[in-house]
Amino acid sequence: DWNASNIIDEQIEKIKAQVGRHQVICGLSGGVDSAVAAALVHRAIGDQLTCVFVDHGLLRKGEVEQVKHDFVKATGIKLIAVDASEDFLSALKGVSEPERKRKIIGERFIRTFEKAARDIVAKAGEKGEKVKFLVQGTLYPDVVESGGGDGAANIKSHHNVGGLPKDLDFKLIEPLRTLFKDEVRAIGTELGLPDEIVWRQPFPGPGLGIRIIGDITRERLETLREADAIAREELTKAGLDRTIWQCPVVLLAHVHSVGVQGDERTYGSPIILRPVSSEDAMTADWSHVPYDVLGEISNRITNECKGINRVALDITSKPPATIEWE
Ligand code: XMP
Repeated sequence: DWNASNIIDEQIEKIKAQVGRHQVICGLSGGVDSAVAAALVHRAIGDQLTCVFVDHGLLRKGEVEQVKHDFVKATGIKLIAVDASEDFLSALKGVSEPERKRKIIGERFIRTFEKAARDIVAKAGEKGEKVKFLVQGTLYPDVVESGGGDGAANIKSHHNVGGLPKDLDFKLIEPLRTLFKDEVRAIGTELGLPDEIVWRQPFPGPGLGIRIIGDITRERLETLREADAIAREELTKAGLDRTIWQCPVVLLAHVHSVGVQGDERTYGSPIILRPVSSEDAMTADWSHVPYDVLGEISNRITNECKGINRVALDITSKPPATIEWE
C-alpha cells in the first residue's frame, strides 16, 4: 500500500545513514521536485543542508525573486542564490542542437554547484567539512527518458541525469528517483509545503533554453520571457492552472513569416503554445483550452512581444510528440 508518510520515514533513515556528519548541498530550481527533495533531506539532517539556487539566465519572469522569497519563507532552509547567467549564456552561445544544449546546461549546473560548495567550505573556516553530497529532485520519468531505465531509449538527456558530466565530484542523493509526480506532490503536502510549491506546474531544469528553437540570445530570451508571462497570466486568470499540466511557450527563432502590423509589412517569428494535460508526463494529450482564452493570449503576445507576428497552437499528443519541443 502506497503511503506518503512511510516513504518519508524510510527515506529519512536512509539519508541519515548515508550522510553522517558531512555537509550537503541541494540544487533548487523553484519547482516541486527539488523543493520536496530539499524538504525531505532537511527533515533528515537539518542545518547540514544548504540549498543552492542557480540563476542561469534561462528562468521565467519573476522566478528568481519568487524562489528566494517563497521557498525560504515556507521551509526556513539555508539558501544561497548564485547569478551564473553570464557563464551559462556564454557556454551556450551559437549552440542550437537540443542534446548539446542539454549537456552544456547539465555540466554548467554541476560546475556552479562545485564552486558554491567550495565557498561554503571556505566560509566555515578550518573546521569546515567538505561538501560530499548533492541532492537532486530526480524523478522516475527523468531517469527513463534519459535512457537510464531498463532497456529504455534515450529520448532526451534530462539535465540532472543524462546531462551530468562524467567527472562528477559529488555523491548523489536522489530520494525521489523511483517516484512519479503525483507521489512527490503527496509527499510535499505531507511534509507541510504550501500549495503554491506543491501544485506548481512542471518547468524543465534547462528552462527557456530548450524553448528557443535555434540558438539562444539575450534578445530572444527577453521576447520569450514576455510571451511566457502573458500565457501564464491569462491561463491563471481563466482558472486553468490545475486543468492544464503545463503549457510550454516556444519561440521558433529561425522561422520568419510575413505579417502586417500597424500598416507595415513585418517579417517576424512565431510563438507556439503547447498546453497539455497529463498524469505523469510520460504521455500527454493536448489541452482543449477555450477559444476566447487562446484568442486573448494571441492578441496580447502579438501586441506586446517585439518581433512576434504569429501565434500557433500545438495540437499533438505525446506520443508522437514530446511535451517540450527540444
Ligand atoms: P518531454 O518533453 O520529454 O517532457 O515530454 C516531460 C516532462 O519533463 C520536463 N523536462 C525536463 N525536466 N529537466 C527537467 O527537470 C530536463 O532536462 C527536462 N526535459 C523535459 C518537461 O517540462 C515535462 O514536464
